[in-house]
Amino acid sequence: MSNFIDLKDLSKDQLLDLISLSIKWKKNPSPKFMNDKQVVLIFEKPSLRTRVSFEIGINQLGGKSYILNDKEMQLGQRETIEDTARVLERYADLIVIRCFGHSQLTKFASISSIPVINALTDFSHPCQVVADLVTIKENFGNYESLKVAWFGDCNNVLQSWIEASALLNIKFYIACPKNISPDKKTLSWAQDRNKNIIVTQDAYEAARGANCIITDTWNSMGDTNPLSENNFMPYQVNDKIIKLAEENVIFMHCLPAYRNKEVTPEVIESANSVVFDEAENRLHAQKAIMHFCFN
Ligand code: CP
Ligand code: NVA
Repeated sequence: MSNFIDLKDLSKDQLLDLISLSIKWKKNPSPKFMNDKQVVLIFEKPSLRTRVSFEIGINQLGGKSYILNDKEMQLGQRETIEDTARVLERYADLIVIRCFGHSQLTKFASISSIPVINALTDFSHPCQVVADLVTIKENFGNYESLKVAWFGDCNNVLQSWIEASALLNIKFYIACPKNISPDKKTLSWAQDRNKNIIVTQDAYEAARGANCIITDTWNSMGDTNPLSENNFMPYQVNDKIIKLAEENVIFMHCLPAYRNKEVTPEVIESANSVVFDEAENRLHAQKAIMHFCFN
């Protein structure tokens, strides 16, 4: 039994196994290894993809899901996180949590005797990045020869991307405004392992020769002090950015997307865009992640 909290907790082989299993179960039916398993999902924030892909995945694997939304459950509000964890482990076999504070999630996981999955916190979004890696593998077959470039905000998805790049030795450029930066501790941990993780304010440097271009909203759920749009505009993924990249570049976005903000309609609707494959891959990846937790 394992928790799935952050990608940096995994070995390179564990992450590669998750990707391979996701692709296997995309092509062939998955075994119903969750027969009689009860899963409680706590969602303090809205969700379309994560919630639905978990619920359908659990169903396809033979398990049952129970959703607690922000009206029924805000961690640490009606009772302590410790008490909530000790109650839910008496009913359920697995807990999936989307919450604001990462420390609330790690606290819950440290108490819980059943596995806990991070379905997004203010700090990281590891389930998303497993699906992203699946999408890249489907398009290019490998990671080693690629340049992946991130544009815009330094947020939870980027955090998990930095961890993945360190584990898989991916050449990873981060183009972001000068007044923000990725988590410094993570960046130094990641750059110790992989010298090809580069932070730049130059969007064109990041775009040049890229095989994969990724962005996300400039205003994540729960952001209290978002930078103004003017700061982010130079990092908008538009035709100019795409033209600097390789001809067969793929464009990825975890969605929901805000057109004419972080990405133009032309780019997200173009033949280079794989955003809906990426969204589909959330389902296959969630199933592999749950398998990881039970084994
Ligand atoms: N990409 C993603 O996690 O989407 P939701 O917020 O809709 O779950
Ligand atoms: N960074 C975004 C991701 C949404 C899936 C947010 O946290 O709102």
